[in-house]
Amino acid sequence: MDNDRERLMELTSGRPEMESLVNECLAVVDNCGAAPEVESARVSMLGKKGKIPGIFKGLSDLPTDEKRAVGRIGNELLKLITRLLEEKGESLSAARSGDIPKGRVTDVSLPGRMKRAGHRHLLTSVIEEVISIFIGLGYRVETGPDVELDYYNFEALNQPPYHPARSLQDTLYVRREDPEKDNPGDILLRTHTSPVQVRVMESREPPLFVISPGKAYRRDEIDATHSAVFHQVEGFAVDRGISMGHLKGTLEVFARKLFGTKRDVRFRPHFFPFTEPSAEVDVSCFACEGRGCQLCKGVGWLEILGCGMIDPNVFTNIGYDPEEHTGFAFGMGIERIAMMKYGINDIRTFFDNDIRFQSQF
Ligand code: PHE
Repeated sequence: MDNDRERLMELTSGRPEMESLVNECLAVVDNCGAAPEVESARVSMLGKKGKIPGIFKGLSDLPTDEKRAVGRIGNELLKLITRLLEEKGESLSAARSGDIPKGRVTDVSLPGRMKRAGHRHLLTSVIEEVISIFIGLGYRVETGPDVELDYYNFEALNQPPYHPARSLQDTLYVRREDPEKDNPGDILLRTHTSPVQVRVMESREPPLFVISPGKAYRRDEIDATHSAVFHQVEGFAVDRGISMGHLKGTLEVFARKLFGTKRDVRFRPHFFPFTEPSAEVDVSCFACEGRGCQLCKGVGWLEILGCGMIDPNVFTNIGYDPEEHTGFAFGMGIERIAMMKYGINDIRTFFDNDIRFQSQF
């Protein structure tokens, strides 16, 4: 294009009339801003009555040499200006379609591609629901590490070395230490969220009202109701004068918020090394109102958690005076609660990552 312009200058130099004609034409080309303007420029410059053909009009009056020279220049001008106009037309239409090369056309009338929005995993939603109930009761959230010391997971929680949970069969160990040597103790994947009780009590003073969500790990065979990795929510309260009555009232409020206002709660005696007395808590079946159905296996009750009054030995291990402070603790399995509440019959569906399962909730 630039070569063409130079050639135009060259051709007309020494011929002022032609020079100004060419400059005029170039200005018209440069000023074209859209395809229709290019067309009218073409008509005015190259059309039958256009400026360039005008050159040939007076030819017959000229001497032969001059006739030939002007004729030759005129023809070349026609060719060059035609080319300049074509190029201008192309560059304008390319700019309009966003510089898309010829053959790749964007159809702006096609519907857009929908972005699929994700949402919370059902386990996350249930954890959040449980936590928000306790936040409403004045609890605060604390968490602890998944990789834990034997001391926090078992020892401080009054779980003696001969306890079966401490065997290799039940607990996933990261490193087992030689008890003869002076070392920091075994490192393991916590088997429950209860070690958070010890960590929080160690670092803070009562009154404590704490709720603690997290993962727990056990060497379980995986089946419809067991997973080696699962979720728990731990809760505990430590203060002066905390009684079993507070525990019962708290869990009643919790069960009714989570499963419906008409639910009853019952405590069944149980055993945990770190609570005394201990209990398992059942809620009346929300599917059959307690009459007995498939969900509750005809019993009318569904087990939802384990709990108890914090064992005085745990307080002593931490350095609290059990005569001064009392407290309760409870721990629940989130998969179990979600399965009951949403009628899910296989724990593995939580971890399959099938969007069709997730998007139902
Ligand atoms: N940690 C117990 C378990 O995993 C549950 C529990 C927590 C029981 C707190 C009593 C008090 O089974």
